[in-house]
Amino acid sequence: MYKIAVIPGDGIGKEVMEATLHVLDALDIEFDYIFADAGDEYGEKTGIALPKETVDVVKASQACLFGAAGETAADVIVKLRQELDLYVNLRPVKSYPGTNSIFDNLDLVIVRENTEGLYIGLEEYTEDGATATRVITRKASERICKFAFDYAKKTGREKVTAIHKANVLKKTDGVFKDTFYEVARDYPDMELDDRYVDATAMFFITKPEMFDVIVTTNLFGDILSDEGAGLVGGLGLIPSANIGDNQGLFEPVHGSAPGLAGKGKANPSAMILSAVLMLEYLNENDAALKLEDALVEVLMEGKTVTKDLGGSSSTMEMADAVREKLEN
Ligand code: NAI
Ligand code: MG
Repeated sequence: MYKIAVIPGDGIGKEVMEATLHVLDALDIEFDYIFADAGDEYGEKTGIALPKETVDVVKASQACLFGAAGETAADVIVKLRQELDLYVNLRPVKSYPGTNSIFDNLDLVIVRENTEGLYIGLEEYTEDGATATRVITRKASERICKFAFDYAKKTGREKVTAIHKANVLKKTDGVFKDTFYEVARDYPDMELDDRYVDATAMFFITKPEMFDVIVTTNLFGDILSDEGAGLVGGLGLIPSANIGDNQGLFEPVHGSAPGLAGKGKANPSAMILSAVLMLEYLNENDAALKLEDALVEVLMEGKTVTKDLGGSSSTMEMADAVREKLEN
């Protein structure tokens, strides 16, 4: 029995969450769900978008499924990442059939450092403009690289590539790159290399199959993740994981999509694939594969899919179709 915190949040977050729990219910795994509040709607009622009780619920659980927040997203999700020290941001870039992915058979994973780099927010005005501080520590570099190698090993991947710009950012990215190669010594069977971020941005478009697992610093990971999303189709398909030493939080990359909310038209795939990442995190690898395969079948058939995928089914109809595949 797994203790799972569930934060549906706002807008389509609630709809894709309901659909995903409906699908998970067909798996042979017991989940103890603890529902918790956060987001715009809760904030309007109470004045606080992320109550302490919700943080406590997530801290006391093994994993958290998060739908989406609206305008309060930064207060909610950024704060949860900090409070729980979720130092890994994991984004698969994977093409699925029946979608408008630019590439077929693309399957790579971006592991982004989530706590430091240029995003620590240390900026100040100077006489002539402004400066920002970029912090790269050995400790954070070590744990993110270690996570990338462990993840590669656990999921049967073959290569880990460090992305940096150490030719210009000699000290900060020098620390990151050196730490990567130090950590790599503990994984003698893993193939590895390193590349510059600018060249990587190009290779993503010309030869993305050269990558397997990518590990990189905060800003570079943010940019490459969105470039990766662009390679494999719309927002309705892209899942993500935020992982720390004690918890994982799994969420679609999309937001609350207010224009789509309340209509039952949101694509549940991104949330379902976030649940796949949660199952992997819980070492339920068979269930993760089964769930992903069920979704792939539905996408491939293209009969019971939402409007963004060229169909006319509702969120719950699509979820039902995935559930049916799981049950058969
Ligand atoms: P959004 O991701 O909510 O929606 C952008 C567009 O993508 C929508 O208009 C919709 O057409 C499409 N889309 C997104 N998810 C879809 C799905 N599952 N199925 C079908 N189509 C889908 O981003 P937007 O419009 O920039 O932001 C809306 C609100 O969401 C804002 O208040 C923003 O702050 C919040 N947000 C929250 C995030 C989070 O909770 N992690 C992340 C991004 C935005
Ligand atoms: Mg981003």
